[in-house]
Amino acid sequence: MQIPFNIPFYSGNECNYIKQAFDNQQLSGDGIFTKKVSQTLETLFNSKKALLTHSCTAALEMCALLLDIKPGDEIIMPSFTFVSTANAFVLRGGIPVFVDIDPLTQNLDDQLVINALSSRTKAIVVVHYAGVSSNMNKLKDISMDKNIPLVEDAAQSIYACFNNLPLGSIGDMATVSFHETKNISCGEGGCLLLNDEKYIERAEMIREKGTNRSLFSRGQVDKYTWVDIGSSYLPGEVSAAFLCAQLERGKEITDIRLMNCRNYNSAFGDLSNGDIRLMYIPEWSSPNGHIYYFMCKSLKQRTEYIDYMRSKLVACVFHYVPLHSSPAGKKYGRTSGSMHNTDRAADCLVRLPVYPGVNTKLVSDHTINFFSQRY
Ligand SMILES: Cc1ncc(COP(=O)(O)O)c(C=O)c1O
Repeated sequence: MQIPFNIPFYSGNECNYIKQAFDNQQLSGDGIFTKKVSQTLETLFNSKKALLTHSCTAALEMCALLLDIKPGDEIIMPSFTFVSTANAFVLRGGIPVFVDIDPLTQNLDDQLVINALSSRTKAIVVVHYAGVSSNMNKLKDISMDKNIPLVEDAAQSIYACFNNLPLGSIGDMATVSFHETKNISCGEGGCLLLNDEKYIERAEMIREKGTNRSLFSRGQVDKYTWVDIGSSYLPGEVSAAFLCAQLERGKEITDIRLMNCRNYNSAFGDLSNGDIRLMYIPEWSSPNGHIYYFMCKSLKQRTEYIDYMRSKLVACVFHYVPLHSSPAGKKYGRTSGSMHNTDRAADCLVRLPVYPGVNTKLVSDHTINFFSQRY
């Protein structure tokens, strides 16, 4: 491909910091780089505690453990999301209750969340698709009114805000991804953000195989032992060192991605009169340029467009297979109401490359040619 869908950003200091981690003679987790990155994330997300994990998936699994999800408990979430949003809870016996999305933002429709509540609802998980914020006032109101914890799957949302509040800082807890495809990455990595102090001590134990090792490291107990269920969710220092270098240029990376999105928006203004529908950003949302997408009119049009772009050596891609229609989603979850908007997003949404350095002019020119020739 002349223009691949993603090229990971290299900030310049990653290898120096990895060498430093080696020189520090600590490659396991919770060393100097882990601590530095955690502090940076706590400031960035205005969070009570940021715990680095080896993936956003791991952080979601920690949420399910922290919330004591038991067999039969229901967790309300969108179906238009990555499998880990649901799988993390299914591992504890939870039942994902899939709710349709708002066709403008592709995020949970808050009105439908109310319809999906039951006496067994134990959590609401919101996903900020493409780094565009859900209506957090409405979801927070539902969560507080019903006393049901709100989890933000902010995998895609670093540096994005809802009414100037960082996404990931509003729910009771939140998860972030540093997978290679994300704006800020360390290959595989993630973070659990805790916005309520009551979860911190137990979360540290869950992340350390169910032991109180963190208390021991801080001199708060004289030996460490097995105290709870947990697993090995702590990443090593090599990942943290890589991430440290990325975060130093995080704002700059975000600005470049946002500029690429603006370039596409200006180029496609005329097409949005009927051929396609451009991404919608609600007034409460300041996004982070994680994804640039538009909506085609039909699956047929999208398939033709993706094939045309591939013939021009440009990779444009669709996104999720909705969880409610996946084999495991059918087996472990259930739907609440119609999934019309979710199915439509699955059929019609197409993502364009936005990584720093992508030739947006070339991608735009090919796109405009396609729609002017065929539609
Ligand atoms: C919404 C959402 N949640 C969770 C994940 C899982 O992230 P990770 O690959 O870091 O486990 C992703 C990954 O793309 C995602 O998009």
